[in-house]
Formats: sequence, C-alpha cells, structure tokens
Amino acid sequence: MSSVRGEFSSRIGFIMAAAGSAIGLGNIWGFPGQTAQNGGAAFVVVYIILSFIIAYPVFIAELTIGRYSQSNIVGAFKTIEGGKKFKFVGYMGVTAASLIFAFYGIIAGWMLSYVFEAIFTIAGLTEIANWCVDSGSVSRNIFFMGTFGLLTMYIVSGGVSNGIEKWSARLMPILVFILVAMIVFVLMQDGAFEGLVFYLNPDFSKITDSKLIISALGQAFFSLSLGVGTMLVYGSYIKKEENIPTIGALVTIADVGIAFLAGFLIIPAMFVAQTNGVQIYAADGSLIAGANIAFQVLPGLFKSLGVVGPVFSFIFFALMTIAALTSSISMLEVPVAYAVDDLKINRKKSTMIFGLIIMIVSIILITNMDLLFGLVISIATQWLQPIIGVFISIFIGWVMNRNHVLNELKQGFPELEKSMFFKLWPWFVRVICPTLILLIFYTSVFE
Ligand code: TRP
Repeated sequence: MSSVRGEFSSRIGFIMAAAGSAIGLGNIWGFPGQTAQNGGAAFVVVYIILSFIIAYPVFIAELTIGRYSQSNIVGAFKTIEGGKKFKFVGYMGVTAASLIFAFYGIIAGWMLSYVFEAIFTIAGLTEIANWCVDSGSVSRNIFFMGTFGLLTMYIVSGGVSNGIEKWSARLMPILVFILVAMIVFVLMQDGAFEGLVFYLNPDFSKITDSKLIISALGQAFFSLSLGVGTMLVYGSYIKKEENIPTIGALVTIADVGIAFLAGFLIIPAMFVAQTNGVQIYAADGSLIAGANIAFQVLPGLFKSLGVVGPVFSFIFFALMTIAALTSSISMLEVPVAYAVDDLKINRKKSTMIFGLIIMIVSIILITNMDLLFGLVISIATQWLQPIIGVFISIFIGWVMNRNHVLNELKQGFPELEKSMFFKLWPWFVRVICPTLILLIFYTSVFE
C-alpha cells in the first residue's frame, strides 16, 4: 500500500525533504527581519525556546498522525477512529496550505526575478534587467510567480522519492554552501561588526513584550511548516523503522540552526550596506524591515560593490530561490496528496489541477495587492496555522487512542517508555501547547 502512495527512500532523504520544507524564506529572510525589528538577540532567545517547547511537540504530533494513518491531513481524520468530527480541520489545512503557496509563490517569484536581473545585467541587457525588478509591473509579477509555480509543479509531479526527496537532497547542500560562503564574504566587509553586535546583544527589556512573543511563536510555527498538514503528510511517507522523536529533533535543530546562521548574513549585510551609503533606518528611526530588506537594502549593497555586484546578487537570490523551492513543494504536496489519496486522481493530474487553481489565486492577489496580499498572509499564518495546530494537539492528546499513538511512536523507538520524551511529550500536546498557543493567539487577535 505504501508503495502506491510513495515513501521517502531513506532516513537522510526524509531529513533533507523535511528540512527543505522547514528551511525557506521564513528562515533566511523572515527570521533576520523579525530579529532586526524586535530588539536583536532577545527575539532570538524567545524564538529558540518556543521552537522547542511548542513547535517541536506539535511537529511530532503531525509526523505521528501522518505515519499512523498513512494518509494526508483530510484522509487522516477520516480514517482514525474519533476523527470524523475533525474532518473540517483537514479541509482547513488544505485551504491554508494552498493560500500559503499562493502568496509564497509571489514572493518567491520576486526572488527569482532578481536572479534573472543579475544575469541580464551581466549580459548587458539593461532594459530587460530593469523589467525583471519593476515592482509595479503586473506582467512581471505574474510571469515570475508563474515560472516559480511551474518549477514547483514539475518537482511535485515527480512524486515523493523521485521528485520531492531527490530535489531536496540536491538543493539543500547547495543552499548551506552558498549561505556559509556569503556569510564569510559579508563578515569580511567594513561595517559587519556593528551588525554582529546588534544581532547578538540582547535587549532584554523587550523580552516580555507581547508583540515579541507573538512574532516569535508565529515565526516558529511558520518556519517548521506546521499547522497545515505539510509535516503530517511528510510523516506519512516515513518508514516504520524510523525513530520519529529523534529525526523530528534533528529537523528542528537544522531549521533553528539555519535561521540563526542566516542572521549572520542578513543583519551584518545591512550594516555593511549602511557603511557603503545605503539607507538602513526608516524615517521613524527603526531598522528597515520586511520586504525592503531583500528588495531595497541588499540590492543597494550589491550595487555598491561595483562590477562584481551582479555576481553576488545572482548568488544571493539563487540562495533565496532554492530555499523557497524546497518549501513550496511541501505546500503543494498538501492538496496533491489529498487528491491522490482521497479523490483517487493520479499525481500528475492532481498537481496540474491544484497548481493551476493556486496560480489563479496568486494572480488575483497580484492584481489586488493592496487589498488582499496582507490579508491572505494574516488569515493563513496568524489564524489558520495556530488554530489547526491547537486542533492537532488536542486530537492526538485527547481523542486518538493512547495505545495507538504510543505504538506508532514505539516503532523505530523501542525504548520509548524509558525516555524523557515519553514523560514530557504527552503533557505538552495535551495541555501546554494548546494553552500557550491559544493564550498567545488571544493576545495577538484581541489586544
Ligand atoms: N517553513 C517554510 C519557510 O520557513 C515555509 C513553509 C513550507 C510553510 N511549508 C509550509 C509554512 C507549510 C507554513 C506551512 O519558509
């Protein structure tokens, strides 16, 4: 049965795919930006703590539900006893994953557009180069979103081991290599030290700030690709002999580690840019954040490097595009797995159908940017992800048969009952995670 659905061929294959999903624009661009906005290292500390105490237990819950049910997020609730009432959570997950892909594909398209801008600049084709990065151009936005979407569809249509796993395993080492090489380069430039100080010097007065905690939890959830069924379906492709708590911990460490590492690139790069005459503070005195880091400060830095600028620009935006691609495939896999498992549509067709539907949604977002873009991001990431995360925790903690959960975890982890994990994890998914998520969610929405 599992061979019909597809399966990761090896442990390292799963780790590459899951880390590929987790490590994305959220790590390399989102995390350093959030850190810059939220007082440097204080944010880093809270983010790391929340990643391990809230995100990790939910991650394990998703992997376990997936592997136990051998299904996608809708199919899992359909087949597990007691799950019927939770079927709506499955549909919410498919919707959330699709919405996330719809906006993520647009941003990834911008990253891709800068890759082409660099190539055309090197080739001396200034006019096309300028079109590539013309942020006001709807045709440019649609073209690059579409190109990125087709790349994603190409990989997903290849299947679990031959598409997702193969490409993640190829691209992730390249990503780490480029990231480290860029860090070495940036840290050798004037101004980098000031960035390091900003990054690593915590302003602890901000640590109890509710905005900081909310942002850190959102970041942890987004970064581990939780609360939409991505990790659930990836879990369904893990072999039964694998130890879920251990490989889950490895992926969490990789995800947090790469985010932390990316901070050593982006934040010092901002201060190097400033040394080179690029503006990095907004009018109100705060550091420039969000999209403007990637599409204003860093391009400014690359320009200031002269003739080698386009080469660095190419390398940097290739890094971003690779990071985005190994993540976007995991978003598209959520509706595709649902169509394959439950609607019995073959993978190629499922990929076509959902890929195209989502691209149409992306086009709607592009043509109604001011109205819809931010709204969809907040519905998907601030509402759906945490709410689904709570339902998943409650489901595995209170609804699912306890022995089934433990037996699933025991496969690949025979000494489970002697472990610290066994003592702690049930309480985290039953009480601590839902309570903390709801509390933080409540503060973020109603304060
Ligand atoms: N984790 C990825 C990032 O940090 C994005 C991502 C992939 C994601 N799959 C997801 C986010 C599912 C939420 C849900 O960029």
